[in-house]
Amino acid sequence: MTDLISQLRNIVGDKGLLLGDDISSRSGGFWQGGPLQAKALVRPQTTQQVAEVLKLCQQQQQTVVTQGGCTSLVDSHHSSADNIVLSTERMTAIEAIDTANRTATVQAGVILEQLQQSACEQQLSFPVDFGARGSCTIGGMMATNAGGNSVLRYGMMREQVLGLEAVLMDGTIISSMTPYLKNNTGYDLKQLFIGSEGTLGIITRAVLRLRPQPLSSQTALVATDDFTQVSQLLGYLDQQFNGGLSAYEVMWQDFYALNTGEHSHNKPPMPADYNYYVLLEYQGNNPASDAQHFEKILGEAFEAELIVDAVIAKSDAERIALWEIRDDAETEKTKFGCFLHTFDVSLAIGDMPLLIEQLHKQLEQAFQHYELLVFGHLADGNLHLCIWEEGMQRKSEVENIVYQEIAKLQGSISAEHGIGLEKREHLHHSRSPAEIALMWTVKKAMDPNNLLNPGKTLPAQK
Ligand code: LAC
Ligand code: ZN
Repeated sequence: MTDLISQLRNIVGDKGLLLGDDISSRSGGFWQGGPLQAKALVRPQTTQQVAEVLKLCQQQQQTVVTQGGCTSLVDSHHSSADNIVLSTERMTAIEAIDTANRTATVQAGVILEQLQQSACEQQLSFPVDFGARGSCTIGGMMATNAGGNSVLRYGMMREQVLGLEAVLMDGTIISSMTPYLKNNTGYDLKQLFIGSEGTLGIITRAVLRLRPQPLSSQTALVATDDFTQVSQLLGYLDQQFNGGLSAYEVMWQDFYALNTGEHSHNKPPMPADYNYYVLLEYQGNNPASDAQHFEKILGEAFEAELIVDAVIAKSDAERIALWEIRDDAETEKTKFGCFLHTFDVSLAIGDMPLLIEQLHKQLEQAFQHYELLVFGHLADGNLHLCIWEEGMQRKSEVENIVYQEIAKLQGSISAEHGIGLEKREHLHHSRSPAEIALMWTVKKAMDPNNLLNPGKTLPAQK
């Protein structure tokens, strides 16, 4: 052990190595709570140092968990006292922003918000965005293939990565830093690392795609009476805005009522008795006329009876207030005294009403009292379900109900949060035995001794 620690210190220097209280005084992550656990926390600054650390750990059969911002919702960053934690917190260089090529070259520890700001200074944008922007890292976002609120227009993290550099457990550096959209040269190896939650290698750098910065952004909250309207409105707006629709976030009535009701800080912008609420955003390039165009299209939607009420944000403050209703996770904690059982599923939009109906039936049978709150990135086929049951002690029963209904509809048990620790034993609901066997084959080829983020993503082998 001391031998390992002193060799790690040789690689990363005194500042690059934390032990004892310096580890336990840190949190294990926002959602997980509790102190961080690790045998040692190493903080390399370069790909070369990561490679040396991994090579050494492989020689000593030492497990390694990589951590970025620790904002995973499925505990993919979870570590225990026998792991070495490798943190990317000192790999924060934005190495280059190439305005002609519209790319950013970054180290893995860059915080999302910093990249967004740097891109913005060049009249460009890095469009992946979600609530954890101030603490999540680009490396973690790649490792988990993060999604968020603008996937509809720009795609998930996978779609933003042109090239990356990663290190295998034996210390081999795989440098695929090509800055082009097109590179059809055999297997696209970078895809192996994206979404594999640090189980196949450690991503250290990347070349990311940037987009033109939209010149205006229009936001509205609209209400509908039934699900057919929700679905038709999406098709209508997508066509009218011609690629400019950048968010289509839907809240079912219970969710909206909770987040604008007595337990919340949000002011209700409209009554809470409509069946569905849609928070939508349109990004345009004509600041002088976009607001008018937006209002006109919504007016036509109203006349076509696709919506029954609408509030358009007239200032940044109003826009933020509307998003806070959608993003608010605190009110459920205030009302119920804890975070609820939360799910992140995807399925065909047309199947959503059936899913919710079946879930109500099953939950009614299983529990005397329960609540089901639904919201999500509807245009991506992605719903988040928050379920309360009295006592909050029967999580696995709730999981079985949700995952069985999802499997019946050929849905996915994880749309954007990943698998991590939380869902590994449920993977079979969305992946066939042949798919899981191939995943294990890949894992064993790249990390034969199961040292990288062990116990995550893949179900235990029987
Ligand atoms: C969201 C997180 C839960 O969409 O994915 O708010
Ligand atoms: Zn989400």
